[in-house]
Amino acid sequence: MPSDLAIGIHDLSFRTTGLVLSHTELARCNGTDIAKYHQGIGQRAMSLPTADEDIVTMAAAAAAPLVERHGTDRIRTVVLATESSVDQSKAAGIYVHSLLGMEPHVRVVEMKQACYSATAALQFAAGLVHRDPQEQVLVIASDISRYDLDSPGEATQGAAAAAMLVSADPALLELTRPSGLFTADVMDFWRPNYRTTALVNGKESIAAYLEAVEGAWKDYQRRGGLPLEEFRAFCYHQPYTRMAFKAHRQLLETCGAQADEETLDHALAATTGYNETVGNSYTASMYLALAALLDDADDLTEQTVGLFSYGSGSVAEFFAGRVRAGYKAHLRGEAHREAIGSRRAVDYGTYRELREQTLPTDGGWYELPHETRGPYRLAALRDHQRVYEAA
Ligand code: COA
Repeated sequence: MPSDLAIGIHDLSFRTTGLVLSHTELARCNGTDIAKYHQGIGQRAMSLPTADEDIVTMAAAAAAPLVERHGTDRIRTVVLATESSVDQSKAAGIYVHSLLGMEPHVRVVEMKQACYSATAALQFAAGLVHRDPQEQVLVIASDISRYDLDSPGEATQGAAAAAMLVSADPALLELTRPSGLFTADVMDFWRPNYRTTALVNGKESIAAYLEAVEGAWKDYQRRGGLPLEEFRAFCYHQPYTRMAFKAHRQLLETCGAQADEETLDHALAATTGYNETVGNSYTASMYLALAALLDDADDLTEQTVGLFSYGSGSVAEFFAGRVRAGYKAHLRGEAHREAIGSRRAVDYGTYRELREQTLPTDGGWYELPHETRGPYRLAALRDHQRVYEAA
């Protein structure tokens, strides 16, 4: 096997949900100064699911364009990363495999570690492709983030799924080695099995995130990683987009470099466009930052991008990717902007009503209203089973 075989992201697509609440509307109704949302946390709107949307329907919608373009013949593995899963046993990816009409000779598995697990999935995928460069791996990150009403986290809710096809000779981004890793046993954010909303110690989570930036970067350097000057841009996990700026300032200070606004903007400005209007999509967030960068930045051919993935609890990884020549021909910016632009705006009252709605748990037969404009929907609940269909 050639050791210089390029492996990485061959295609990248994301989708979000059908509804959107603007922070202007949220601020108007909860009495918050809008500047706190727009400037303080860098958020403008949050995606909300319709009654018949969930992480499976988003995941299938995000992955469908990849399957349409590349077929399924070479996909031998599907990994779905999420922390808002719909079942404790069955991998959500199996529903996606079925909705996409994939053939049976595929391994499907789900991964969890807060917002980090899509990066573990990506590394797992790269390893599989290294074993057999003919194989491709479909990696999907799909999450709906929910915090308690009127809690500090509420303004950072959101939803999205990012799907990536990992292959040899990738069209978009070659993943390079090494990775810098950092794990710490902290309780900054967690969701016990009996809760539908996450518990979070907001300030502690910021501190834990920043400690992980420093820890992962130092590990990356110890293992022979590239110096700071080699990087054109940095995609951080963005629970809210200002977090990326805090994180990069931390990284620059760790390197003894100057962290002025111009330097921060050059490295980050093109990475926040999708997340500021979608909200926190947990596992998908860093990959929406990457999508925004590739879709919106000037030519990045052969440039190196830093990626920092953080999942509370906590696990973090810093790694680098090299943008491939000709990548622009494979991008999906128009479809991404359409997914965001086609959401239906809801007012604050509707949002509060939506938050009151919960799916029945008695095992009865319930048809769900057809509300999504997406290609797949959760059609019914029956005998404690979820029934999905093409919309
Ligand atoms: N105009 C401009 N900026 C304002 C403002 C105003 N009127 N009011 C507040 N701000 C700024 C604050 O100075 C702060 O910025 P800073 O962090 O650079 O100092 C920012 O807006 C947030 O204000 P803060 O008072 O800290 O907000 P909060 O107590 O409501 O909580 C989080 C913010 C992020 C902790 C909260 O949203 C949260 O818990 N989120 C979920 C967890 C999370 O995302 N963790 C991140 C790591 S994974």
